[in-house]
Amino acid sequence: MAGIETTLGLVEKTYNKTRENLSVVRDRLNKPLTLAEKIMYGHLDDPKNQDLKQGESFLLLNPDRVAMQDATAQMAILQFMLSGRDESAVPATVHCDHLIRAYKGEDSDLAVAMDENREVYDFLASASSRYNLGFWKPGAGIIHQVILENYAFPGGLMIGTDSHTPNAGGLGMCASGVGGADASDVMAGLNWEVKNPTVVGVKLIGKLNGWTSAKDVIIKLIGMLTVKGGTNRIIEYFGDGCESISCTGKATITNMGAELGATCSVFQYDSRMKDYLEATNRADIAKLAMENIDILTPDSEVVANPDLYYEKVIEIDLSTLEPHITGPHTPDAFHPLSKVKEDGAKEGWELNLSSGLIGSCTNSSYEDMGRSASICKQAKKLGIKMKSTYFVSPGSTQVRKTIDRDGFTQDFEDVGGVMLANACGPCIGQWSRDDFKKGERNTIINSFNRNFRARNDANPETLGFIGSPEIVTAMALAGRLDFNPITDTISTPNGDIKLEAPVGDELPKNGFVTDLDGYQKPEGRGVQVIVADDSKRLQLLTPFAPWDGEDITDSLLLCKAKGKCTTDHISPAGPWLQYRGHLDNISDNMLTGAVNAFSGETGEATSILSGEKHSFSKVAREYKAAGKSWFIIGDENYGEGSSREHAAMSPRLLGCKAVITRSFARIHETNLKKQGVLALTFKNPEDYDRVDRTDILAIKGVKEFAPGVELTLEIKKDDGEIVNIPLVHTFNNLQIEWFKAGSALNVLRNS
Ligand code: F3S
Repeated sequence: MAGIETTLGLVEKTYNKTRENLSVVRDRLNKPLTLAEKIMYGHLDDPKNQDLKQGESFLLLNPDRVAMQDATAQMAILQFMLSGRDESAVPATVHCDHLIRAYKGEDSDLAVAMDENREVYDFLASASSRYNLGFWKPGAGIIHQVILENYAFPGGLMIGTDSHTPNAGGLGMCASGVGGADASDVMAGLNWEVKNPTVVGVKLIGKLNGWTSAKDVIIKLIGMLTVKGGTNRIIEYFGDGCESISCTGKATITNMGAELGATCSVFQYDSRMKDYLEATNRADIAKLAMENIDILTPDSEVVANPDLYYEKVIEIDLSTLEPHITGPHTPDAFHPLSKVKEDGAKEGWELNLSSGLIGSCTNSSYEDMGRSASICKQAKKLGIKMKSTYFVSPGSTQVRKTIDRDGFTQDFEDVGGVMLANACGPCIGQWSRDDFKKGERNTIINSFNRNFRARNDANPETLGFIGSPEIVTAMALAGRLDFNPITDTISTPNGDIKLEAPVGDELPKNGFVTDLDGYQKPEGRGVQVIVADDSKRLQLLTPFAPWDGEDITDSLLLCKAKGKCTTDHISPAGPWLQYRGHLDNISDNMLTGAVNAFSGETGEATSILSGEKHSFSKVAREYKAAGKSWFIIGDENYGEGSSREHAAMSPRLLGCKAVITRSFARIHETNLKKQGVLALTFKNPEDYDRVDRTDILAIKGVKEFAPGVELTLEIKKDDGEIVNIPLVHTFNNLQIEWFKAGSALNVLRNS
């Protein structure tokens, strides 16, 4: 099923299904459609009956592909294995890119990563082979670049276990970042559930020129809309200006749509995408896309009257767009280059740059590398070198080998550049620096996508800025954040000279150097999945037990969470990430950020059994060992945040039977249901206040569990008083089956 070899067939199938779905949806909606609507509705599981209210309903969709990176793939695959399926229901790939540290340079860094992460790589490689998933080895490239080069296609729908999955929107795909549970569900044959997004139109006019690049379009847009401006929205680009941006430039823009919080971002099919498909050996898909252009572009009425059909329309003139940088610490603090001196002085930034870094999944195309190398070439001629350290992270072996052949690598190295592995490295905090210690103030600029505090080098005192690779290169040469190559000169042995604007081909004249050495083709059933019995990082999952057919009685209250309790509070990341593939070990982090409503303390509870105060997870383990089940009581919007599956799996593992809240964040509510936990809501939200620390809890009515039928929380107080509290729920028939079987995956497993 998986593999580069099947893409054309998949595209044909997708276009046929999209046409079929759209004929139903058009009859129902009776209005012109945006491109985003065509792609999303083209992938509906049930176009006849699906509620299509944008911004409100939840769509059940059938994605075409699943992509996973090495950190998140571990739990996704472990869960998928529980489904009992022999292979993924849709083509899927795994990419080893996040666990490679940047320290001494590519060869040494890769060797260290192979050693440190051997067991994770062995597991991912063997499980991918066994379950028919494409596997890209460490060093083969960064997930989104490899996807763009090999798998993305116009009009497709993809989910990926990484926030920057929307990168594939540069090739006309709706591609969304999701949690591992969504990936395992889709691989196991379930739908992907997502809030039906509204669509924001961004009209691009004019033409990029000089020092301005695609990065400046998205930095400008994030500055305008802010980091929350895209929530539950798809950003759809249209207008003549789109044609002036290369396919990979478009991918830079859609990649960073993640910084808007958008579901995804998408461009319509055009000649630049066609060129890219042809250059990456997919002329057949380009041809097919052209034949289906009507479903790969918005309806003409939408383009003629965008204000009528998009939720809002924003116009950006590329001809007058100035290069921008953004930061520190947030991607929506944007500064036009001409204002950096003034803003820097006002804010008191350190303006000497300690480092400039280019590349990452966001900006490591051939065009990015070529334009940056053209500046390095000028520098060499002028007799100057980088004043700051300068690192280059290529996005894939294909890009790396092509820029080696075409001399760009040499251009970087000639002026002091250091080539890093084809991996995430410094973009994900995997940058080990010797030049600055933790706590030492310094300023860096990179062409990545996120600049949260400590994101790159784990030093909270590093001021992180983001700009295009060209601007990063020019600033690193000058060693200053306030260097504006459009107006400022740079000192050279022959006097002060102004740099010329960068130039570079969009695609290599002599074609890409194709390299599939880093790709492992799956072998199927005969392969043994490798997990060491004593592994601290990986643990095979065992199916959760089915419901015993009785009401739930004699349960304890583990946690009554007060106020905000997000999935980060329930299952925090940080150092816990190393245990992502080991449910038992990572469960020690359960509810670490939850505020105990009785004590006001965070992450701790006093055990009813021993009277001792411990972390929630330790108390939960004590209850479990004593054969006691337990509940969580939550406040408003419990479980908001990400779709992190551990936030539902850890409570289930440690003995949680029910989570009862004033209200749920929808995705977490569904995740609890999928794991076989009763996700219930107080009919009267004020009943939250009636639950006390030492209550003995029961759920009555479980034997008659049915959609729309209330259940009862029976509370036995210390003095023997019995209080009955009505509970409501949103379980449908299928979800009740999940509960009865012990989990959604058990249902699949038993089918
Ligand atoms: Fe990797 Fe950074 Fe992209 S972590 S996937 S290079 S956003």
